Amino acid sequence: MEPAGTTTTVTTAAAYPRKILDYMEGFLVSKTLFTACELGVFDLLASSQHPLSLEEVALGIRASQDGTERLLAACTGLDLLNTHTLEGQVTYSNTEQSSVYLTQSSPVSLTQSIHYSSKTIYLCWHYLTDAVRSEEEMVKFMQLMNSIWNICGRDVVTAFNLSPFTTIYDLGGCSGALAKQCVLAYPECTVTIFDLPKVVKTSREHFVTDDNQRVSFHEGDFFKDALPDADLYILARILHDWTDARSIELLTKVYRACRPGGGVLVVEALLCEDGSGPLTAQLYSLNMLVQTEGKERTAAEYTALLTAAGFQNVQVERTGKIYDAVLGRK
Ligand SMILES: C[S@@+](CC[C@H](N)C(=O)[O-])C[C@H]1O[C@@H](n2cnc3c(N)ncnc32)[C@H](O)[C@@H]1O
Repeated sequence: MEPAGTTTTVTTAAAYPRKILDYMEGFLVSKTLFTACELGVFDLLASSQHPLSLEEVALGIRASQDGTERLLAACTGLDLLNTHTLEGQVTYSNTEQSSVYLTQSSPVSLTQSIHYSSKTIYLCWHYLTDAVRSEEEMVKFMQLMNSIWNICGRDVVTAFNLSPFTTIYDLGGCSGALAKQCVLAYPECTVTIFDLPKVVKTSREHFVTDDNQRVSFHEGDFFKDALPDADLYILARILHDWTDARSIELLTKVYRACRPGGGVLVVEALLCEDGSGPLTAQLYSLNMLVQTEGKERTAAEYTALLTAAGFQNVQVERTGKIYDAVLGRK
C-alpha cells in the first residue's frame, strides 16, 4: 500500500479497464443472442435461398424496422450474421456457425438450450446476490416457515390423538416450530427434527430450541440417508415440494423405518376433491409450480400416495385453517 499523500500512478493496464467493461456488459451479448433466436432471425435467413434485406427480415419476424436494423447490426458485430452490399443495398445471411447451431431444424441446434437460458436461467440470475447471501436468506425463509405454526400448529398436531406415539421424527422439520407445538400438546413425546445439515446448523445458531431436551436435531438427507425407526413421522409441507414418484419414494422409506403400529402424519393445505378451492390451496399450488417440482393435492391424492407406500387406514382431518392433517398407519 502506498503511504498517504503519494500520487497513484495509473499504469497502462489500469488506464482502460477493458476486461471490467466487457464483464459489465456481457449480459448485452447474451440477451442479443437470445432475442435473435426467439424472433427467429436465423431460421428466417436459413429458409431463404438468398440473403435478405432489412425490410424483408423485419417483415418476416414481424418486428419494427428500426429495432430489427439495430438487432441485425449487433448480430453482425457479434459475427453471427454476414452482410453483403450490392448496388448500395445491404442484405444479411447466416454465418456458417449460425446456420449449424442457431437454427431450429439443425440436428445440432442449440436453440432449445438458448430458449431455456433466456426464459429460466437468465431470470434466476437476477437473484444471484440473494442466493450468495444464502444464510441470511435461509434464516428469513425459516422465520417464514415458523410463523404459521403459531397460528395453525396446535390445530394440526391435535387433529388426531397422537398420544400413543412417543418417539416422533419431524422429517424436514426445519427449525422446529411445529415440533414445539407437538411437545406442548403431548407431554410424553420427544420430537427429533430430521433436516439437512446446513438447516440444522442454522437452526442451532439462530433459533431457540426446547429447554427440556424434548426437541432435538438429527442431520440427514431423507432421500439419501437411513431413517431412524420411530412411532410417528411428521411430514409437514414436504410432499407438496415433490412429484408423485418422489413422494412415494420418500413415503416408502418412511413406511419401512416405521415401527409396527406406528404411522405418518402428513400436514398440507388440502385442495377440495374437485379442485374448486380453497383459494389459499389453489394459490399455494401455483406457488409450488414456480418454486418446486410439486403441487398441492386433494385428500384422495394424499391417500393414494400413502397407500402406494404401504400405509393403511388413512384418515383425513380438515382443521378449518390453512393446513390440514392426514394420518396413515402401519
Ligand atoms: C417447505 S419446508 C417445510 C418445513 C417444515 N416442515 C414446516 O412445515 O415448517 C421443507 C423442509 O424440508 C427440508 N428438506 C428438503 N429436502 C430435504 C432432504 N432431502 N432431507 C431432509 N430435509 C429436507 C428443508 O430443509 C426444509 O426445512
